Amino acid sequence: MDEFVVTPWEVKGRVDYDKLLRQFGAKPLTAEDVALLEKHAGEVHPLIRRGLFYAHRDFDFIMKWHGEGRPWALYTGRGPSGPVHIGHMVPWILLKWFSDKFGLEVYFQMTDDEKFYDDPELSLDDTRRWAYENALDVIALGFTPNRLHLIIDTLDIKPLFPIAVKTAKKLTWNTVKATFGFTDSTNIGLIFYPSLQIAVAFLPTELRGEPTPVLIPCAIDQDPYFRLARDIADSLGYPKPATLYSKFIMALTGESKMSASNPDSAIYTTDDERAVKRKIMNAFTGGRPTAEEQRKYGGNPDICPVFHYHMLFDPDDASVEKIRHDCRSGALLCGECKLMLYEKVSRFLKQHKEAREKAKDKVDQYRLSVKLK
Ligand code: TRP
Repeated sequence: MDEFVVTPWEVKGRVDYDKLLRQFGAKPLTAEDVALLEKHAGEVHPLIRRGLFYAHRDFDFIMKWHGEGRPWALYTGRGPSGPVHIGHMVPWILLKWFSDKFGLEVYFQMTDDEKFYDDPELSLDDTRRWAYENALDVIALGFTPNRLHLIIDTLDIKPLFPIAVKTAKKLTWNTVKATFGFTDSTNIGLIFYPSLQIAVAFLPTELRGEPTPVLIPCAIDQDPYFRLARDIADSLGYPKPATLYSKFIMALTGESKMSASNPDSAIYTTDDERAVKRKIMNAFTGGRPTAEEQRKYGGNPDICPVFHYHMLFDPDDASVEKIRHDCRSGALLCGECKLMLYEKVSRFLKQHKEAREKAKDKVDQYRLSVKLK
């Protein structure tokens, strides 16, 4: 049996996504859930259609809530400990789609505190600098400016703190220890931190003065926070947050998740064309060792990061299906397939880098506490 571990801090082994859902107690996203979304949005984003987002808590509830004309908002976040790679941006792309389709406010948390507590090598200046750097990638995705609200924890704590305090009082050491695997040598910053990640889920209700649940699109490893948030929401008088969970983005080296410790496993938004090309051309694939065998037996797109990225970055279903088919039949060789991917990714990055450049010096305009002043 393949062993795997998934916590907010670590992903190890080959992840069994169904088993993980059972462990966490979240639900699979069903055809009915997707149909509800289609009814309200008029279409379904490819990342949902293609099953990258595959699980949820109360997604059906939030669609019904929306159907009744009641207010809701979006929430996600990022731990700013280094540069952003294109895998990080996948949930943010969906976030923007939801914001545009439903006209929703977006609360985006940058946890410079969390990453400082977590990593002995990083100073608070470092994580704050990364928060500003990473914010450029978020802004570059083109959110409607007055709907995107950035929260850099150590700078924008004021509206959050009273909620975090109320949250902290509801969470016992026993509970967070069991949920996050803390030990006697965990620093108390990390122990308090979950109350901050949870607090943002309740913030829109405070700001609007009426029940305003959030939908949180994020990777499945963040579920422990929101499971706790849902457990205590009622007792604090807040609506329970709803969540929409993605699988992990495959590393170019073929592992379940990209890792910051191997820069060749991921494509960073700041990589130049040569680095992007080199990383893609050197990627692990589901192909055969020789062209001859590939022609004869075909490849396996299911385990192939190159195919995975075609799926993420090509909006055209027919084109993705053709790649899948031609890979399986042996008509398409890995070298050609990689070049096709390189074109798609470099087109995306070119546009992204321009937008990122324009976002420089604008980060403060998006910060929640600057706007509230
Ligand atoms: N803990 C997350 C990380 O390390 C950052 C985060 C804060 C987050 N709030 C969130 C992620 C809400 C998803 C949704 O990346």
